Amino acid sequence: MCSIIGYKGQLNAAPLLVDSLKQMEYRGYDSVGIAIINDGKVIVRKSVGNVSNVTEKFNLGIMPGHTGIGHTRWATHGRVTEENAHPHYGCTNSIAIVHNGVIENHRELRNELIGLGHRFKSDTDSEVIAHLLESYYAKKDIKKTTIETCRRLKGAYAFVAAFEDGRICGSRCDQPLIIGSLDGGYFISSDVLGFLKHTDKAIFLHNRDIAIIESNALQLFDFEGNAVNRETTQVAWEGSSLDKGKYAFHTLKEIHEQPAVVEKAGIKKSGKIKEFCDILGDTRTVYITASGTSYHCALIAKYLLSNLAKIHCETIVSSEFPYTLESIDNSSVLLAISQSGETADVLEAARVAKQIGSKILSIVNIPTSSLARMSDSFLEIECGPEVGVAATKSFTAQLSLIYAIVDRLCNYVLGFQANKIFLAEASREVLDQETKIQAIAGKLRQARDIYLLGRSIHYPIALEGALKIKELSYIHAEGIVAGELKHGPLALIDKNTYVIIINPDDRTHCDNIISAREIKTRGATIIGISNKPNEAYDIFLKLPFIGESILYPIIEVLPLQILAYYLALIKNIDPDYPRNLAKSVTVK
Ligand code: G6P
Repeated sequence: MCSIIGYKGQLNAAPLLVDSLKQMEYRGYDSVGIAIINDGKVIVRKSVGNVSNVTEKFNLGIMPGHTGIGHTRWATHGRVTEENAHPHYGCTNSIAIVHNGVIENHRELRNELIGLGHRFKSDTDSEVIAHLLESYYAKKDIKKTTIETCRRLKGAYAFVAAFEDGRICGSRCDQPLIIGSLDGGYFISSDVLGFLKHTDKAIFLHNRDIAIIESNALQLFDFEGNAVNRETTQVAWEGSSLDKGKYAFHTLKEIHEQPAVVEKAGIKKSGKIKEFCDILGDTRTVYITASGTSYHCALIAKYLLSNLAKIHCETIVSSEFPYTLESIDNSSVLLAISQSGETADVLEAARVAKQIGSKILSIVNIPTSSLARMSDSFLEIECGPEVGVAATKSFTAQLSLIYAIVDRLCNYVLGFQANKIFLAEASREVLDQETKIQAIAGKLRQARDIYLLGRSIHYPIALEGALKIKELSYIHAEGIVAGELKHGPLALIDKNTYVIIINPDDRTHCDNIISAREIKTRGATIIGISNKPNEAYDIFLKLPFIGESILYPIIEVLPLQILAYYLALIKNIDPDYPRNLAKSVTVK
């Protein structure tokens, strides 16, 4: 959710921190701040806005000092205000902290600390950490101070604190915190992207670990104060870079990377795919869990695994998982799908299933993520870093990998491997229609409601298309099973409504045309997305013919992503950073 970063070393901390925050801005972007230790003083600068605005406002990049911490915020407790932005500090301004997660017992702690004379400046749960550290720091023993503080905190959190004498400490409990080790210094960050430009040597802290960086030496302890050893891992990002290249926005760049993503799916690490498929193929029941866009991929995975690989599957939205446990047991497999591998609800579902004794399989983009690390076997979607908050290429990559897995499980009758190049070519053809889709966005700009209809395997694409439109353009959009139209949603249709029908020429086609006529009679405008034209459509968006109709979801989602992107531009919305949303939702 929020991103946290710390640096202590020989270089000037401020420009490094600012750059790190830019790399991690996708995690939260409503306010920004850094604290630099200079001449025995903690200097805090923070404000509402994105990293570039705040950097400019305070000239953050030129603050002197070799130690510092930084933060980008996605508000959970307390509104988006300067006071609530991080870093927070106690009463004496000798310790500054940045925090990610939720401190569940912050009210009790705040009352207790106020009773002891502490004065609070913000409405956040985070500020209690600064005051607690301050109250235990009387003897300047940073190890004891941090342990005592961590023992008082309840919830899922990671924090980093900078002390006026130039020392840094950090701790994690169910939120990621990673050390980046470089010659003459250390980073401490919520994401490897925070330091990957400078070092690929990462130390993944375990839950209830404490790190202290002092005089360029790193010490690690558990909450009981015992020294612990954590291995150094070499991390690498393959695929595309983090800049926008020739594109105006990350989202558009990522949309255009999709043909290459399809081509690449499932070709690497065949040993890992075998291990993964062996577990999947051997199980009685697979529960598939995910959130947001990844959940729409889960719905298609269920369809493919049950219909083609004949594996009994259930899908459960991760946040609902704790309430839906009746039948999961130690003979079940939980398949968790998550781009980030850090979504709190997904991690919680995996933790609960693991406790029950189920095997955990996962599909992630980040191989070093918490989800990958707790899985019995995981596969990477290998689409490179996705910066746009709304998932685009990671969805296609997840989908392609699912197709590759199911193809393998059912002796390649699905035809994904055989048709991959052809499919990538078809995706390019769809993307070539960008100008036409931009014009359609122009027609839909005043829409109040957009409904997306699909049946069978195309229904999850209707849901995903609706989610993209909501996220990027703030227009109300709803995915509906076309057959359910007459059981309620038809009441919403009138001449001001726009309906997008996802309708490739397969078993669902004719029934969809019947639905289209019912809608047309009520005066709505119909946009047909299909490889086959029909007079029922007011606007027709042609999909290339790809033979194997079951593969259509991979290409039919593309025009919907482009439509959502252009609706955002027309409405003057930044498509990379939609309001109120974060790419990685690491709180429940
Ligand atoms: C957030 C993002 C969505 C994403 C969802 C699940 O809500 O804004 O784009 O689909 O989290 O993320 P995950 O990393 O678990 O796939």
